[in-house]
Amino acid sequence: MTKNSACKILASVTAAAYLVVAFPVASSAQSVDDLAQVCAGCHGEKGIPVDKTTPVIWGQKRDYILNQLYDFKVGRRANDLMTPVAQSLSKEDMQALATHFSKMAWPDLPQTTPSADDAKTAREVLNSVNCRGCHQANYEGDTVRPRIAGQQDEYLLKTMNDFRNGDRKTYIGMTALMKSVHEEALKPVAEYLASLKVPARTK
Ligand code: HEC
Ligand code: HEC
Repeated sequence: MTKNSACKILASVTAAAYLVVAFPVASSAQSVDDLAQVCAGCHGEKGIPVDKTTPVIWGQKRDYILNQLYDFKVGRRANDLMTPVAQSLSKEDMQALATHFSKMAWPDLPQTTPSADDAKTAREVLNSVNCRGCHQANYEGDTVRPRIAGQQDEYLLKTMNDFRNGDRKTYIGMTALMKSVHEEALKPVAEYLASLKVPARTK
């Protein structure tokens, strides 16, 4: 990209920001730390969610977080607890929150270790569909593809079923994939993914 076109993009982004300022929403006066306090009520003070069906968001991919907040706001994804929260957020709040949470360290959750049989079933499913082709080698995620290693097992099971039965409409590709997996295999897959750690990157 030339310097000039970068400047033009910057100028239009700035103009868009002014438009938002011209129509303020109540929450935009709040700092990201104030907003993050609201999130902590469910997603946990130290990143460990209060309920097993609430996902970890500390250390999740920034672009993925941003997409989900937007999808909750516009109704592509619906949840009684999360939808009203997203509806109260401005675009700037969402961007600031996505950056904030993506920079936090993924928490160390107490997870159950699946039985050897369940782990085998899970690996067969994960390899046959090549989940790592998108979710990366250690299921650590990348941009819009979420980290799924070490996520809460009950949440993983719930959301995979939501994709499968069409309640979660955020990505048709995941719906098609989940429909191709035998329903009974989803629980071992969720437990196995939840038990995985992402090895530290060697520089
Ligand atoms: C009242 C509880 C509650 C509060 C407060 C809350 N969340 Fe959530 N959040 C949830 C639940 C429950 C889900 C899972 C919804 C589902 O199953 O589809 C969720 C899902 C999410 C997801 C999707 C994660 C994923 O892996 O797909 C993101 C991102 C998120 N919340 C961010 C936030 C942010 C940022 C805040 C603060 C502004 C916040 N949440 C406040 C309950 C809450
Ligand atoms: C073609 C790429 C692709 C493949 C292959 C793929 N995924 Fe995904 N997956 C995605 C994307 C993109 C999302 C985010 C969808 C969205 O925006 O809601 C996602 C979301 C998910 C989520 C939701 C995570 C969360 O935090 O809510 C789970 C769980 C998941 N995938 C599991 C799997 C499993 C298990 C497999 C293999 C059976 C698989 N995926 C294969 C692209 C893929």
